[in-house]
Amino acid sequence: MSILHSTARELTHGGRGILAADESIKTMSARLEAEGITAGETARRDYRELLLTAPGLSATVSGIILADETFGQELSDGRPFPVAARELGVLPGIKVDTGTTPLPGAGGALITEGLDGLGARLSSYAERGAAFAKWRAVIDIATTTEQTARANGHALARYAALCQEHGIVPIVEPEVLCSGDHDIVACADTTRLALAVVFNELEDAGVDLRGIVLKPNFVTPGLEAPKVSAAAVAAATFEILRSTVPAAVPGIAFLSGGHPTDDVCAFLKELSAIPERPWDVTFSFGRALVSAALSTWGGAPANVDAAQERLLDNCRQAADATA
Ligand code: 13P
Repeated sequence: MSILHSTARELTHGGRGILAADESIKTMSARLEAEGITAGETARRDYRELLLTAPGLSATVSGIILADETFGQELSDGRPFPVAARELGVLPGIKVDTGTTPLPGAGGALITEGLDGLGARLSSYAERGAAFAKWRAVIDIATTTEQTARANGHALARYAALCQEHGIVPIVEPEVLCSGDHDIVACADTTRLALAVVFNELEDAGVDLRGIVLKPNFVTPGLEAPKVSAAAVAAATFEILRSTVPAAVPGIAFLSGGHPTDDVCAFLKELSAIPERPWDVTFSFGRALVSAALSTWGGAPANVDAAQERLLDNCRQAADATA
């Protein structure tokens, strides 16, 4: 099996999932400040160290997505983050997109940037131990059209093909945003469009689907709309995935998108229970795993153990939902 195939499988198979700890400097700083922590390079590093070194993290977590800043930082014992991650049994990943900007003439729809110079950056990340990468397209139900979906799908496919040339597994993330008061049908329609276009573009770009991880949203009503049952979310999500995601894709790792931990774990549990599923399903959650740990920590060294326990509890709950 090629390294791409075995890495994609290791990330998504066997009841473990991915910890997304790749918030940009701006987003991470805002989250620290919201907890009363003075944000800076050191605070961001200490927080990510707390996450990665939670004892036994690798029992439930197969990979950790890092931001560029963290990827180049060292733990307090001097080990670079990607080296320490591998030693701890967790594959290191790197977010390589550089964020979004409005797509001209597209009514506010966003396009993700970061393709310029990406080959050279991937080569450097690969040398420093990156096993996988992430690129996030941001898809807003209100502004997305076939054309904007195609622009984002095209960028995702170029990124994915380049990653594979460098021996790095691309996480392909077309995220349909959960914010808003739309119903589940609106989310289903936009998710179907986004995924169909992405797989068209991946095929055109010659991407080996056995060496990617898909990171989609669950198909849900908007966060400001009335909730539906976890079984209904799983059924709607499976319906869209079945009609758009080829069986060659080894694993699908969901984002949490602002939904509470209990909710996304319930969605994943229901989805895991669907017997005719051709791909492994697992989590690639950010907030649903880390929010409780961040507020428990509050920047105080004395709270590190308790914060790590909160993280591990959430990772265990998410991993149990894949069984
Ligand atoms: P959330 O699970 O907090 O949505 O973050 C996952 C992620 O990596 C989004 O790109």
